[in-house]
Order: sequence, then structure tokens, then C-alpha cells
Amino acid sequence: MTRHLITSAIPYINGIKHLGNLVGSQLPADVFARFQRGRGHEVLFLCATDEHGTPAELAAAKAGKPVAEYCAEMHEVQADIARRFGLSFDHFGRSSSPQNHRLTQHFAGRLYDAGLIREVDEKQVYSHADARFLPDRYIEGTCPNCGYDRARGDQCENCTKQLDPTDLIEPRSAISGSTDLEVRATKHLYLRQSALRDDLDKWIDSKSDWPILTTSIAKKWLHDGDGLQDRGITRDLDWGIPVKKGTEDWPGMEGKVFYVWFDAPIEYIACAGEWAEATGGDWERWWRTDKGAADVRYTQFMGKDNVPFHTLSFPATILGSGEPWKMVDHLKSFNFLNYDGGQFSTSQGRGVFMDQALDILPADYWRWWLLSHAPESGDSEFTWENFQQSVNKDLADVLGNFVSRITKFCRAKFGETVPGAGTFGAAETALVETLRTRIRAYEQHMEAMELRKSAAELRAIWVAGNEYLQSAAPWSTFKTDPDSAAAQVRLGLNLVRLYAVLSMPFIPHAAADMLAAMRTDDTAWPDDPGAALNALPAGHAFTVPDVLFAKITDDQREEWQSRFSGLRT
Ligand code: MF3
Ligand code: ZN
Repeated sequence: MTRHLITSAIPYINGIKHLGNLVGSQLPADVFARFQRGRGHEVLFLCATDEHGTPAELAAAKAGKPVAEYCAEMHEVQADIARRFGLSFDHFGRSSSPQNHRLTQHFAGRLYDAGLIREVDEKQVYSHADARFLPDRYIEGTCPNCGYDRARGDQCENCTKQLDPTDLIEPRSAISGSTDLEVRATKHLYLRQSALRDDLDKWIDSKSDWPILTTSIAKKWLHDGDGLQDRGITRDLDWGIPVKKGTEDWPGMEGKVFYVWFDAPIEYIACAGEWAEATGGDWERWWRTDKGAADVRYTQFMGKDNVPFHTLSFPATILGSGEPWKMVDHLKSFNFLNYDGGQFSTSQGRGVFMDQALDILPADYWRWWLLSHAPESGDSEFTWENFQQSVNKDLADVLGNFVSRITKFCRAKFGETVPGAGTFGAAETALVETLRTRIRAYEQHMEAMELRKSAAELRAIWVAGNEYLQSAAPWSTFKTDPDSAAAQVRLGLNLVRLYAVLSMPFIPHAAADMLAAMRTDDTAWPDDPGAALNALPAGHAFTVPDVLFAKITDDQREEWQSRFSGLRT
């Protein structure tokens, strides 16, 4: 038995996530967690809300709420949607937790003691009207290069020139529009990542099984240009984790907080502390290599834009502390999912958001499409036609139809118990062999976190059952040889249980319905498919389940397509 620590990139608190966010981290992490649990391994699956930073403050202001209150509410909203999507976190934490405050301050103290933090005097734009320092991208003005009048302080999106806020002509606050700005001196902490370059280099070299996409991104940042840059880890904001050296005050850093990207990954560890507090579990057993975590296998899931933070910044924090923290073993990253000819966009409200998705269809429909079309080797695109097609074919025609046919036929001819007569012959042996090969392939793809290949293999396993049923044709056999028909039906009913177990990672709600219909809670993994097809013995009672998957009609598709063609307000 292996112990799997699994984390998903933690979603920002400001607003409900869209389907592109979901498929880029939380959903694949859930599939992997469910698969490893299904195989009998011990799993700790953690996620949390990422609650600090300017976007959280601005979203709270827009909602007219104190930021702490806004975050508490939005956390509940996200937790509820995650539950309804079947995301099986062992704990869904908060980066604003006391655990994360303590741990983030602890890391800062360790890094300081190791000589890895330096204090830097800087100049930054202060807005009197907003009573705050403004991050570069919250300053707008006219581009000195092209004259575009809505250039941002970090870059002009019209001519792409990189800018400093002081380059802008007639700068104003993007928050209030105020031009009452002043450049003020302020002090910040920088993490000396450059000093850790060799350690990071060695660590990345030791990861020979990482995908090339991941290592090449990391190597690029390590070696290109000036190499790994030191990184500012503090901000002049109210909302965040106050800058401290462990438990001590940090002279000169009063009123400042850590940068959100410094404390967010530390929440992966703190979240285990929150889990321990909630359940009585032992979090150090998962995170400290001196306390049992040395044989934990740690896998992270994230979008490709998150890779540098997980291969360089967070490892720099951990390595720099000099303490025996567990480091990531496998890192699975994703490209982007596009929406119907454009991009999903949270700020513009473009695409389908998680709550809207659940308003129109159950979670499994979405899970299946998203996972079987995951943006693994390149970006992929959601279209309503494709969604309709894959739900109707894969879920309704293949899996749903199989379950319905076999259970209804049995009820009609043998009643609602598994029939006992007859024996398995050549066709059944051949099916078992096909399943054996395919299940082993499915396991390998799942271990490798290849979602599309896993989904394709799972679908092929469903198809094999349909083909068997089609050619065995118990409805004809029954007329001349009812005993053989009974054996075929017995096998078919056992396949329903087998499919439920194998499908649980992808479509957990339908899988649970299938197990309930088969009146079993035997979820043993089919290490031996032949034995697995005898799990439900003769005489075992079952019920015919309700329709597992309803087909999406053309009318529905068109209605949704137009409903979601605009922007969410
Ligand atoms: N909130 C970030 C995003 O959505 C991800 C943070 S991941 C962590 O892109 F490592 F910082 F936790
Ligand atoms: Zn410009």
C-alpha cells in the first residue's frame, strides 16, 4: 500500500470558477485521488481557497463587504459547489487560516536566519483617494510608445511594450480613477532565489520522470537571461498574512503583508494542519520526511501558468528553510480549455461557470466531457455540439443503455435477482480476457495521469460489454436455451458492478447509483476480472435503476448555446 499526498492548485477566492479552471487542476486531481483510493491506497487529497492579494480586496469592495467576511462567504460557496461536483477533498482549507499564518511566518523566519532574505528600498505609487499603494497593473494612463490611453503600469496591451508605472502619461488609479498619486519610498523583502539556483537545478535533475513540458519551463527560468531572479515576497496591503520573523515582529515591516504567491503554496502544508485539527489526523506523517513522510508519494495538479511557482518558487521556500519537508514527486500540468471560439474569462464572465453548469445538468455529464477532452497535449475547446455528442454517445448510448438493457431484461425474464442457472463458455472467457487486457491498460494510463487515454480505455471497456451483450443476445438465447441466457445475464449484471468500480473516478454519482441498484457496496478493485465477474452470486437481489443519463436534445443544446453566448454580469 502506497500513501498518496495529492494537491490541486488552490483556486482564487474572488468568484466562482469556470469549467476551464476546473479541468486544469481540481477535477483531474479528484480523478487521481479516487483512483488511488479505489485501488486500496491511503490518500490525503487537499485543496483550499487562495484568499489573499489585491483581487480579493477589490472583489470584496465591489461586493460592498469587509474582505474577511467576503472570503468566508465565498469559501462556503466554493466548498458547496466542489461538493456538488463530487470533488472528494479530504479537506478544503483556507489560505487565511491561523495554521497558514503561523507557517508562512515560520518559513520567513527560517529563510531570514539562513541569510536568504534581503530588505530592499523601493519607490511605489501611492493613491491618496484609495488610501493605498497601487500594484503596477492597477495604474492606468497613456502609453508613451503608442498613445493608447488605457495602458497599464506593467504593460501596454495595445503595443505590448513593457512599462513602469512612472512611464505612463497622466497616470490614474484603475480602482478609483483618481489622479492624486504620489511616488513614495517603501521597504520590501526579497527572497534570494538566485542563491538557491544550484540546489534547485540539482533537485530538478533528480526528477527524470517529469514531463518535458514541466522541466523545460523550470530550466528556462533557471538558466535563461539573468537566471533565477530574486523575488519580492511582501506587499503594502491590509489583507494578508502580517510580515513576521517566526513569532517576532519585523522592524520596518509594520503594516505589510506577505505576497499572495508566497503564502498560497505554503497552504498546501497548512491545509494538512487544518485537516488534522478537524479530524484528529497526523499531518506531519504526510509532510515531514523525519516523521514518516519519506515514503509518501506526492503529486500536484495545476494549469501550465502555475508551473514556475511549483517548480521554483515554492521549492525555493522549502529548500531554503533547511527543514525536512516533503517535496513534490510528480507534477501534472495542463494547457488551457477554450470556450466556443474564444477564451473562458473570469473577469469578462465568458463561458460556463461551475454553478451554472450544475443548474442545467448533473455533475457527471460535465466531468465526463471535461476529463475525456482534457487539454493535455495542447489547448482544447468546449463546444456545445461536441458536448452533446459525447454525452449522448458515450454516456447514454454506451454505458446507460447497457445498464438499462441488462437489468430490464433480467427483471422481465428472471425477476430482480441474479439468475443462477447455466455456465460460462467461450464467449465469456474471451470477454474476460479482453477486460483483463483493457483494465491493465486503464490502470497504466491512470497511474501516468493520462486522462484522455484513461477515458478512452474506460469507454472501450464499456463498449466491450455492449458488444458481448449484442452478440450473446440473451433475448434470443432465452427462447431455446434459458440456462445459457441465465449465465449471460448473470455476467451482464456483474459487469454493471464492475463498471461502477472502474468508472467511479470519472462519474462518481452514476457509479454510486449503479452500485445502489446492484444493492452492493463491494467496491473491490478487479485485480482479477474473472473473479470480479462472480462477485454478485446467484440469488443476489437488485433493482432496475432510473435512467442513468438522459440524452441532450437539439433544442436543449440550442437553448444553452444561446444562453451562454453572452457575458455573465
Ligand atoms: N490561485 C492560483 C491560481 O488560480 C493557484 C495557487 S496554487 C498555490 O492560479 F500553489 F499557490 F497554492
Ligand atoms: Zn502602447
